[in-house]
Amino acid sequence: MDSYINHVDFFKGNNPEDIAREYGTPVYVYNEDVIRAHMKSVAQVITKYPYTANYSVKANTNIHILKMALEEGVNCDAMSEGEIRMLEAAGFPYDRIFFVPNNVSREEMQYAIDRNIMTSCDSLSQLEQYGELNPGGKCAVRINPGVGAGHHEKVVTGGKKTKFGISESDIDEIFKICDKYNLTIAGINQHIGSLFMEPDPYLDAVTNLLRIAKRFDNLEFIDFGGGYGIPYHKLDDQPEYDMESFKKRLEPIIDSFVADYGKAPLFKSEPGRYCVAEGSVILGRVHATKDNSGHHFIGTDIGMNVLVRPSMYDSWHDIEILRDGKPVSRDSLTEQNVCGNICESGDLLCKDRPLPKAIKGDLVCVLDTGAYGYSMCSTYNSRPRPAEVLVKSDGSLKLIRKRETYEDLLKLM
Ligand SMILES: Cc1ncc(COP(=O)(O)O)c(C=O)c1O
Repeated sequence: MDSYINHVDFFKGNNPEDIAREYGTPVYVYNEDVIRAHMKSVAQVITKYPYTANYSVKANTNIHILKMALEEGVNCDAMSEGEIRMLEAAGFPYDRIFFVPNNVSREEMQYAIDRNIMTSCDSLSQLEQYGELNPGGKCAVRINPGVGAGHHEKVVTGGKKTKFGISESDIDEIFKICDKYNLTIAGINQHIGSLFMEPDPYLDAVTNLLRIAKRFDNLEFIDFGGGYGIPYHKLDDQPEYDMESFKKRLEPIIDSFVADYGKAPLFKSEPGRYCVAEGSVILGRVHATKDNSGHHFIGTDIGMNVLVRPSMYDSWHDIEILRDGKPVSRDSLTEQNVCGNICESGDLLCKDRPLPKAIKGDLVCVLDTGAYGYSMCSTYNSRPRPAEVLVKSDGSLKLIRKRETYEDLLKLM
């Protein structure tokens, strides 16, 4: 594919150069239709049994995006009190929030308990803490299914080497703590990791979790976790995650569980990336170019503070070079290093990647930045965080988060 943004008319007729001039760079630009389409798709992963998709808001907590989830009938999972507060601000009722924290303080857990938000405990010690805070209460436990999957070691969250979840061998201890505090386990959940394009590890983990589920009586819900991938190599025509064939393979696994268990609890999944990743690009400006010992550098304002995934996980994001608001043809490519303005040699969006030759003044358009983009931004090097703009379904533009200012950086001191 020569240009993704042209292929899907990402800016809906708006000139990206005008967006960059009006809102400044770097700027996150979202497409409402793309996000809503993905949310609609995850809401249909299971249709035969009771099911809800929980959008995992760590991927992106912009309140305008959370409101889209609310409208599309998607529930949410939150990892922290801060994420719960974002959901409150977006208007989410507490019974549509699932709190899936890790190593939280008594105060943070109490915040959820006070609001009657279903909470999952991801260790025996957190379950004990839950029992102390809410004796006689109802909660969930996060099971470590013993298998993991993901695009990088740092995002694999199941398996023996990770800090997440309670091992199957500790299930008897769960029951002992429940007896001690008169707790009811309403649900079990898992999350094996992030960004898989082949469903096999997920389906294995589902099979395993359903086997484990039979040890719990009267579960109200079983949550299989998130992790569905998106094609980060779309300019090389990488296909989408095959949701339809995944659904066909998932259904018989659930059928067989329901037959054995004697009833169908509510099933849940927790996709984050899949809902929002493809619905955003970042526009940044080329401010300098240079050659260093045969390596060509394109210096932009998209530093690792704006998008950390390439430096943190060596993640690939496709890049389009825009001149006068139009993608430069990919017929002729030269190897280039696109870098940011942060004082780190790891501040690179790509290394020696064949791209159309960029010149000073061009825009760099980084694709698939809606998930773990803005939500992982920082103010490193005292750079204010960027603005976020939404291209609405009717083609109009809406500023959905202002650019941080230098005054904002100073105001807590
Ligand atoms: C518990 C839990 N659920 C869901 C997710 C969402 O994963 P993804 O964005 O890959 O779908 C994560 C991501 O880290 C997670 O930790």
